[in-house]
Amino acid sequence: MSVKDVEDSLGLSVCKKQSLVIERGQGVWVWDVSGEKYLDFTAGWGVTCLGHSHPLILGAIQDQAARIIQNPNSGFTYSPARASLLLELQKVLPAQLSRMFFANSGAEANDAALKLARKITGRSKVVSLSGSFHGRTLATLSVSGGPQNGARYLPRVPGQAFSSHNNFNELDGVVDGTVAAVIVELIQGEGGVRLLDKAFVKHLRTLCDIHQCLLIVDEVQTGFCRTGWFFATEYYDVVPDILTMGKGIAGGLPFAAMVMTEKLAAAVELGDHGGTYCGNPLSCAVAAQVTRFLRENNVVSHVADLGALALTDLLQLKIAFPDVVKDVRGLGLMLAIELQHDSEVWPLTDECQRAGLLVTPTRNAVIRLLPSLLLTKEEWRAGFEQLTRAMAAFVAGCERHTPALVCGQN
Ligand SMILES: Cc1ncc(COP(=O)(O)O)c(C=O)c1O
Repeated sequence: MSVKDVEDSLGLSVCKKQSLVIERGQGVWVWDVSGEKYLDFTAGWGVTCLGHSHPLILGAIQDQAARIIQNPNSGFTYSPARASLLLELQKVLPAQLSRMFFANSGAEANDAALKLARKITGRSKVVSLSGSFHGRTLATLSVSGGPQNGARYLPRVPGQAFSSHNNFNELDGVVDGTVAAVIVELIQGEGGVRLLDKAFVKHLRTLCDIHQCLLIVDEVQTGFCRTGWFFATEYYDVVPDILTMGKGIAGGLPFAAMVMTEKLAAAVELGDHGGTYCGNPLSCAVAAQVTRFLRENNVVSHVADLGALALTDLLQLKIAFPDVVKDVRGLGLMLAIELQHDSEVWPLTDECQRAGLLVTPTRNAVIRLLPSLLLTKEEWRAGFEQLTRAMAAFVAGCERHTPALVCGQN
């Protein structure tokens, strides 16, 4: 039985599969079982920020695993690995965000933030933005997407309101003195790399202060240098009450974190939150090394420069293929190509794969590029060439089938 047969027959099918059996990776490259090589512009949903099999991560795993992987009585006992991560994070976070707690996924960190916001404020209403994505637990799904998202798993966690993206009036209408927290992505990832306006974020911060509700910024995707800033909150010049992070934090290990102000932390009591693997020494040791590496090597500058160059190239793509590309946008190495039609996303993703490039199909007619942050200029150029070839092949395919370019519409 092939790997594909085993997965198809024994796995629970929860998503569309690509016809790929990936065996290994090195830097920005991955190889399938037949030895075919692909340039990876997905970084595993924006996770492997230092690329695949980075020696620093391998060394940290090996070193910590040889010491201890899981502490006795887990969170009851202290850990040098956890302490070293706390110190590293302190160096990259705003001084006001000084109390941290660790989790195993972005959804879990957001879930904890929402739960603690309810306890701290004594209120239960949570406001979020349409098109957002905060995870797939019941609480995070309830604040994700938009009104239509709850339909599949009704009812949502009660006390939820949405406001449209960048809509001041709607926000004013839903944020009031009954709100526990507003949770936002400053740049929506799964929603299609949609940036909030700086003025909207400023207004949001003011509104939360007026109504004494908490501002939770979800930096699970935007954090750890992805946008050319260590955290996107720096680009927006905003300090939230709670910030959540995940994905790049441990370079590929399942790990996440939530950080809050000292004042909020004072309201959190023993037993309010926890988890068997929260802050386990193995993930903490790796995350500490990743955080230090990113800071000491000024990875933000590299990402900002390469991101600007990449966006300029993508604009050329828009000019060359106006019938397919509607918009290109992004910040740092969080980039989007918005297509004219949602139904073109998968066919073009497949075409990229045929050209040797892996990209991330995303909602709202978007193909997302989230490469390793250590991508070089030459590697970007190679990927961009593959992307251009894929686009040309896609357009040629459409023209072969229909006189007008309506490929992918159904
Ligand atoms: C902004 C944001 N928040 C939360 C999550 C959920 O993170 P995880 O998949 O680690 O639970 C994601 C995942 O894509 C995300 O992009």
